[in-house]
Amino acid sequence: MVWKFLPALLFAFLSCFLLASCSDPTTRHKVLSTIFDGVPSLPPAGEMCNEYYHERVAAETEGREMADVNADTDQDRRSSHKPYKEKKCKDCHSKNKNINAGLIAPKRELCGVCHQDFVQGDNIHGPVAVGDCLACHLPHNSPYPSLLKEDPDKVCDLCHQESRLAAAMHERFVVKTISCGECHDPHAGDARYFLK
Ligand code: HEC
Ligand code: HEC
Ligand code: HEC
Ligand code: HEC
Ligand code: HEC
Repeated sequence: MVWKFLPALLFAFLSCFLLASCSDPTTRHKVLSTIFDGVPSLPPAGEMCNEYYHERVAAETEGREMADVNADTDQDRRSSHKPYKEKKCKDCHSKNKNINAGLIAPKRELCGVCHQDFVQGDNIHGPVAVGDCLACHLPHNSPYPSLLKEDPDKVCDLCHQESRLAAAMHERFVVKTISCGECHDPHAGDARYFLK
C-alpha cells in the first residue's frame, strides 16, 4: 500500500526542497542525494552556477565569509610541513639510499604512513587512489597553502586540459574566477565527481 505514504513522502520532499533551496546549491545537492539515496541527483548545472555566483557576490559585498571566499588572500600563503619544520627528517628519510631512494617507504606509500584513513568516500580521485600525493603536494614546504605545488586556482590544470563534458557550465566558472576547489573535493567524496 505504497500510496498511503505518498502524502508524507511528498511533504518530506517538498519541505526539504524548499528549505534547502534557501541555502547554497551544493548543500541542496547533499540534501537531495540523501533523500534519493543512490540516485544521481545533481541540480541543473546552469542553475547551480548562477545561484552560487550570486550568493558569493552577495557574501563578498556584505563582507560575510563564505567557505573559501577570502581565504588565502592577503595573508601569508606559504605553508610548511610540520615534520619538516621540526627537522624530523628521519621520519621520512633513511640512511640507506639504495632502498626506496632513501625514503623510509616507497614514494607512493610514504604519505600514508602518517596520513591514515585520509581518503573517505565512495569516489576516489585518480591520483589519490594510486597514492600519487606528490602530483599535487610538495613534501617540505610551498609558496602556496596546503603544501600545494601550484596555486590552488591552477593546481587542477596540471592535468585537466581535456574538454569538460559540462563545458559551457565550467567556462562560466573560469570567467567568474570561481576555483575548482569551491565545488570539488580534491581527494574524494561520496558524491559523483567529488562534489562537496
Ligand atoms: C614528510 C616527509 C619528509 C620529511 C619530514 C622530509 N623530507 Fe625530504 N623529501 C621527502 C620526499 C618525498 C622527497 C622526494 C621528493 C620528490 O622526489 O619529489 C624528499 C627529498 C629531499 C631531498 C632531495 C632534494 C629535493 O629537495 O627534492 C633532500 C635533500 C631532502 N629531502 C632533505 C630533507 C631534510 C634535510 C629534511 C629535514 C629538515 C627533510 N628532507 C624532511 C620527504 C620528506
Ligand atoms: C612523519 C609523519 C608524516 C608524513 C610521513 C607525512 N606527513 Fe603530512 N603532516 C604531518 C603532520 C604532523 C601534519 C600537521 C597536521 C596538523 O597540524 O594537524 C601534516 C600536515 C600535512 C598537510 C597539511 C599542511 C597545511 O599547511 O595545511 C599536507 C598537505 C600534508 N601533510 C601532506 C603530506 C604529503 C603529501 C605527504 C607525503 C609526501 C605527507 N604529508 C607525509 C605528518 C606527516
Ligand atoms: C589532485 C591534487 C591532489 C592530490 C593528488 C592530493 N591532494 Fe591533498 N590537497 C589538495 C588540495 C587542492 C588541497 C587543499 C584543499 C583545501 O584547502 O580545501 C589539499 C589538502 C590536503 C591536506 C590538508 C587539508 C585536508 O584535507 O586534510 C592534506 C593532509 C592532504 N591534502 C594530504 C594528501 C595526501 C596524503 C594525498 C595522497 C593520498 C593527497 N593529499 C593527494 C590536492 C591534492
Ligand atoms: C596529477 C593529475 C591530476 C590532477 C592534478 C588533478 N586531477 Fe582530476 N583526475 C585525474 C585523473 C587521472 C582522473 C581519472 C580520469 C578518468 O577516470 O577518466 C581524474 C578525474 C577527475 C574527476 C572525475 C571525472 C569523472 O569523469 O569521473 C574530477 C571531478 C576531477 N578529476 C577533478 C579534479 C580537480 C577539482 C582537481 C584539482 C583539485 C584535479 N582533478 C586535479 C588526474 C588529475
Ligand atoms: C560552481 C561549482 C563548480 C566549479 C567551480 C567547478 N566544477 Fe567541475 N563540476 C561541477 C558540477 C555540478 C559537475 C557535474 C556536471 C554534470 O553532471 O553535468 C562537474 C563536473 C566536473 C567533471 C566531470 C564531468 C565533466 O564535465 O568533465 C570534471 C572533470 C570537473 N568538473 C572538473 C572541474 C575543474 C578542473 C574545475 C576548475 C577549473 C571545476 N570542475 C570547477 C561543478 C563545479
